[in-house]
Amino acid sequence: MNFSAWSQYDQRKQIKLFEEIQEVIEKEEMPLKQYLWMHPDARLDINDQMIIKAWLSGAQPESPNISVQ
Ligand code: HEM
Repeated sequence: MNFSAWSQYDQRKQIKLFEEIQEVIEKEEMPLKQYLWMHPDARLDINDQMIIKAWLSGAQPESPNISVQ
């Protein structure tokens, strides 16, 4: 999944990803642990989680404005 390519995904794919994103955020599965080990700043803080959850519940067409570099 690539948030930068979000608008290029068809609606069916977006809906499927909404469900998967909700799951990985709630279970704190993303970003992957092995990635966070090298890039601790990529950890989603509570504010990032809230932005993503608000975006999911609003079903907005644009990708959320967060950085996971
Ligand atoms: C806001 C942060 C992130 C979110 C919401 C997120 C979400 C997701 C979702 C929904 C999937 C399953 C769907 C798919 O495979 O396309 C996924 C898989 C994956 N993501 Fe992320 N991701 C995030 C950050 C990252 C980062 C920073 C990395 C590290 C490079 C990463 C690496 C992966 C990998 C390797 C998979 C496939 C792993 C597997 O299937 O077990 N993700 N991610």
